[in-house]
Amino acid sequence: MEHALSFQCLLLISFIFSFYFTATQSSIIPRLSPIGDLTLQDPAALTADDTDRDTGDLKTFYFKQTLDHFNYRPDSYTTFPQRYLINFKYWGGANSSAPIFAYLGAEEPIDGDLQVIGFLDDNAPSFKALIVYIEHRYYGKSVPFGSFEAALKNAKTRGYFNSAQAIADYAAILIHIKKKLRAHKSPVIVIGGSYGGMLASWFRLKYPHVALGALASSAPILYFDNITPSNGYYSVVTRDFREASETCYETILKSWSEIDRVASEPDGLSILSQRFNTCRPLNSSSELKDYLNTMYATAAQYNGPPTYPVNVVCGGIDGATFGSDILSKIYAGVVAYRGNTTCKVNSPTNVTDETSIGWEWQTCSEMVFPIGCANDTMFEPNPFDLKSFVRNCKMTYGVAPRPHWVTTYYGGHDIKLVLQRFGSNIIFSNGLRDPYSSGGVLDNISDSIVAVSTVNGSHCLDILRAVPSDDPEWLVKQRKKEVEIIKGWISQYYADLDALKVY
Ligand SMILES: *[C@@H]1O[C@H](CO)[C@@H](O)[C@H](O)[C@H]1NC(C)=O
Ligand SMILES: *[C@@H]1O[C@H](CO)[C@@H](O)[C@H](O)[C@H]1NC(C)=O
Ligand SMILES: *[C@@H]1O[C@H](CO)[C@@H](O)[C@H](O)[C@H]1NC(C)=O
Ligand SMILES: *[C@@H]1O[C@H](CO)[C@@H](O)[C@H](O)[C@H]1NC(C)=O
Ligand SMILES: *[C@@H]1O[C@H](CO)[C@@H](O)[C@H](O)[C@H]1NC(C)=O
Ligand SMILES: *[C@@H]1O[C@H](CO)[C@@H](O)[C@H](O)[C@H]1NC(C)=O
Ligand SMILES: *[C@@H]1O[C@H](CO)[C@@H](O)[C@H](O)[C@H]1NC(C)=O
Repeated sequence: MEHALSFQCLLLISFIFSFYFTATQSSIIPRLSPIGDLTLQDPAALTADDTDRDTGDLKTFYFKQTLDHFNYRPDSYTTFPQRYLINFKYWGGANSSAPIFAYLGAEEPIDGDLQVIGFLDDNAPSFKALIVYIEHRYYGKSVPFGSFEAALKNAKTRGYFNSAQAIADYAAILIHIKKKLRAHKSPVIVIGGSYGGMLASWFRLKYPHVALGALASSAPILYFDNITPSNGYYSVVTRDFREASETCYETILKSWSEIDRVASEPDGLSILSQRFNTCRPLNSSSELKDYLNTMYATAAQYNGPPTYPVNVVCGGIDGATFGSDILSKIYAGVVAYRGNTTCKVNSPTNVTDETSIGWEWQTCSEMVFPIGCANDTMFEPNPFDLKSFVRNCKMTYGVAPRPHWVTTYYGGHDIKLVLQRFGSNIIFSNGLRDPYSSGGVLDNISDSIVAVSTVNGSHCLDILRAVPSDDPEWLVKQRKKEVEIIKGWISQYYADLDALKVY
């Protein structure tokens, strides 16, 4: 069971092979994404139409983007079309230097964000802001080398797929838009969630002449290079479950060894397969444990209103619809959360969606999150093993990850000491029920680099579309606070413009 153990509290890489070869989606930590469950359950729902139907007031544009911003070799000058969308409806115009809200896309086609992100639309009218959404390179319709397959085909074409190139793209596009609209003095506020939130905060630090400020929602910029303890993620998952129900937590805690015990009996795997209604027979107990692990992590990451998935899972487990033994309870949790209509574990999904493939590369090159499990969570202990992570990535991609590059290039160590007298105008927003909040900025760094957290919030909740009838008061308050802070930056900026008379 040594092997099974090593898959338990998994790290992104420990399943990379099972991911590609068995194409189960079960064994991943939920990726960084504002979109959440929607992606996990139905990736197809997010893929782009093949036509550029302008939706509502959004107009689609393509920018001739430079492949490589950081070299002067002939190859670097190759270009590719990068998609961005603009909503002009609320904009006060260039003459009044009305602001620009720019959403920085992350590890998915931008179409998915357009469906769920609300912060820009909800607030543009009161700011008279122009709304811009920009798609991240290598996703959706913004792929170099002609196609997604070609772009990810080999180490050479993948090499241009990284965050520094991505934020340089954003700078080029935003400068282009300002020039075209003669909006030279319009302040730009960049907004992003999750990985996109990290990009937004880094963008403000690297390109202060392009963005006046950043709203970085659920951005775990400190989950690198062991700034955050590696079990932070699963500690928060565990805390969410304990807070929901102590008995639920205890059932889960005891379930791993029970699963192994049954699996080790004669015919044990087929008993487990039957009891968990698996789509294909289990070959090892780790397949089931990986599924459960990811399910609990997902429930915690998106543990927000109105459904509060952790409560749903625990409702099933504590309710014990199918019997009162441990496995029946766990299965009832699965059914409560995932439904009772289809098989679940070991589904023969053919993982071809860009996010899964692209984000795997990103985490295996630059975005190395050392997420592991110590012995103080409800999961089986499984510490992050950098050596085997590096080895596996190298085997898969032919190049080794650079686990220290994020902190070298963007910083992160001693962030308060470093940033309290450098930089300004960044909001780090978090919901503390989100396991990624363990790697977020949760304390104020200076007067204008601030943390706005909610105790009961989840991943990227604040930038999702507001639903006045459903949103709890604390969420409304959080968003209001963010808007007030941004208003403050912009009025200061206009005062500076006047004082310096730089028209
Ligand atoms: C903006 O200012 C320019 C120059 O003063 C003027 O020609 C133009 O009509 C103004 N545009 C609007 C929309 O007010
Ligand atoms: C289990 O192993 C068999 C034989 O190696 C293989 O054909 C099957 O696809 C595996 N099942 C899963 C769910 O991985
Ligand atoms: C789930 O479906 C099975 C088969 O249709 C049924 O026997 C079982 O009672 C259902 N369980 C729940 C909780 O609905
Ligand atoms: C997965 O899907 C792709 C494209 O849709 C197809 O080319 C490939 O053969 C499929 N693989 C499997 C194992 O079904
Ligand atoms: C967890 O690990 C620590 C350090 O290795 C050890 O001191 C402690 O006793 C362990 N706790 C449990 C509950 O196993
Ligand atoms: C940080 O500052 C903001 C704005 O002044 C304030 O609303 C917030 O509560 C502070 N956050 C913390 C964690 O002290
Ligand atoms: C968070 O949720 C818990 C459980 O529902 C509740 O008891 C608590 O008052 C909430 N805290 C805040 C700050 O809303």
